Amino acid sequence: MIKISPSILSSDYGNLEKELKRMEDCGADMIHIDVMDGHFVPNITLGAPVVKCIRKACRLPFDVHLMISDPCKYIPDFAEAGADIITFHLEADCDAQKTVELIRSYNIKAGISVKPGTAIEEVFPYLDRLSMVLVMTVEPGFGGQSFMEDMMPKVRTLRAEAERRGLDIDIEVDGGINCDTIAKASEAGANVFVSGNAVFSSADPKKTIEQFRAKALG
Ligand code: DX5
Ligand code: ZN
Repeated sequence: MIKISPSILSSDYGNLEKELKRMEDCGADMIHIDVMDGHFVPNITLGAPVVKCIRKACRLPFDVHLMISDPCKYIPDFAEAGADIITFHLEADCDAQKTVELIRSYNIKAGISVKPGTAIEEVFPYLDRLSMVLVMTVEPGFGGQSFMEDMMPKVRTLRAEAERRGLDIDIEVDGGINCDTIAKASEAGANVFVSGNAVFSSADPKKTIEQFRAKALG
């Protein structure tokens, strides 16, 4: 199932409630929340208290992308704040299996993300316990970067492995998604598409999301 997950990294942080409602009205399927700690990535965004405050602003699932060095320390806070999916990085300083089980212990969907330099096979040992794998198509840290098409073989390999195991897993791509790149990612096997800049800078985000969906469906 195709899902469009606008990233609030490119939204107006002074009007988050309005921005979330706007995305809901524009047909988004989820809200992608980029959490950065200034250590795992060279940028700082927001923490669980903000997630808790914006939880009441819209009904869409919160797709929380943790770009932080110590995910286990903060997962309980994000779970209690209302996250629906929590994705952490395989490159973070944690035991991945324990981290997946910690997320699942809150009845929340667990995801693992890989940076461009990490081989996709590294997530295979955890695949059976995951709802989603996030393949980064830019170096994490900032919005508005260019899509790395050379990540598509990773998406293909992952989709093939999921099918081989009979797993109905979401494959999310994040970074540089627009009307052109979404078709390439979808064709490779991705079905969840994060978009910051292209959606939030659009004069007509509803139309952009509709176009995304059409392009992703091929
Ligand atoms: C980057 C973030 C992305 C970012 C995507 O580290 O994980 O979610 O917001 O933004 P665009 O779509 O502008 O590349
Ligand atoms: Zn993200």
